[in-house]
Amino acid sequence: MTSPSRQDVSSEQPENDPSSKAGRKPRVFSGVQPTGDLHIGTYVGALKQWVERQKERDNIFCVVDLHALTVPEGIDPVQLRNAARQVAALYFACGIDPDENIVFIQSQLHEHAELTWILNCITPLGWLQRMTQFKSKAQRAESIGTGLLDYPVLQAADILLYDTDIVPVGEDQRQHVELTRDIAVRFNNLFEEVLVLPKVVVPEVGARIMGFDEPEVKMSKSIAVERRGHAINLLDDERTIKKTIMSAVTDSERELRFDRASPGVRNLLTLYQVLTGNGRAEIEAEFEGQGYGVLKKALLAVVLDTLAPIQARHREIMDDPDGLDTILRKNADRARETAANTLERVKNAVGLG
Ligand code: TYM
Repeated sequence: MTSPSRQDVSSEQPENDPSSKAGRKPRVFSGVQPTGDLHIGTYVGALKQWVERQKERDNIFCVVDLHALTVPEGIDPVQLRNAARQVAALYFACGIDPDENIVFIQSQLHEHAELTWILNCITPLGWLQRMTQFKSKAQRAESIGTGLLDYPVLQAADILLYDTDIVPVGEDQRQHVELTRDIAVRFNNLFEEVLVLPKVVVPEVGARIMGFDEPEVKMSKSIAVERRGHAINLLDDERTIKKTIMSAVTDSERELRFDRASPGVRNLLTLYQVLTGNGRAEIEAEFEGQGYGVLKKALLAVVLDTLAPIQARHREIMDDPDGLDTILRKNADRARETAANTLERVKNAVGLG
């Protein structure tokens, strides 16, 4: 049996990464849940960093539709299936190269659910009960299913199945990736060193984009469904985007400085920084002596410039549903090779099969 277990990847820099010493690119795994439309926070926190660093890494990007079942109220089977394909199409539309990366839909591989069960059996209940995302979702949910509590274990299975070194996500997912490491350590201690410990990577800027209408809370898909003006969705039309940005909450000051701005203004400045790639000093100089209206107009222009090509590519991809399905099926087969191998090692280690 091969033992691919590697030590903690202590830095994202390839030279400090044991995988690069072994002459291979670091393995990346990440995913998005197909619930509600993808918004600009998802793009900035996750997709943008996937795209920008795709060449340096060996990437697997998943559409995590099993996770979408954890809030089952209002799930429409036809809609869920379409949403999963839409999200995969958005990965490609945002710039993920279908020839160089693996993109697949989670429920096409039974290995995810199977490893989840095994990991469930070694995960203390208290670890799951203290997850902040569980606590906040449980407060809002009509009823709390076991799946909602178990959500992070399924996420751990996603990551661990692929011997993942790096998990690029937004700040809100840091705790889940840290839990994944804890679960892997516990498994390796209880049985055999089979699982690789992943490292979380969040972007330096834009790891937590806030709601335009309430800049004290993280921009979220579930709030965006309920409230217009909360988020910009990646497929929103120009009019909606304009309305959302122009009515974004600011304050009565005129403080266009990153360190002194109120949460709403800082959020606009941060988005502008990420999407232009300009430095803070340059941005502060650009808007010196100007009002918030000027910042909003500049942000609108850069958001439209970013989203127009993504929307055009997304339309093209969705116009060829057979082409998309073929890619996703082939990619699922490629993902299965690794997932099946890890699952077999895990089952051997615990005495199953
Ligand atoms: P999800 O679908 O909620 O979010 C997808 C990604 O977008 C990031 N994100 C944000 N980043 C910055 N600002 C925001 N306002 C914002 N909102 C969302 C999230 O951090 C995430 O990176 N549990 C995951 C999906 C998942 C997963 C995995 C991720 C399942 N298995 C394995 C990585 C690895 C989730 O719900 O993401």
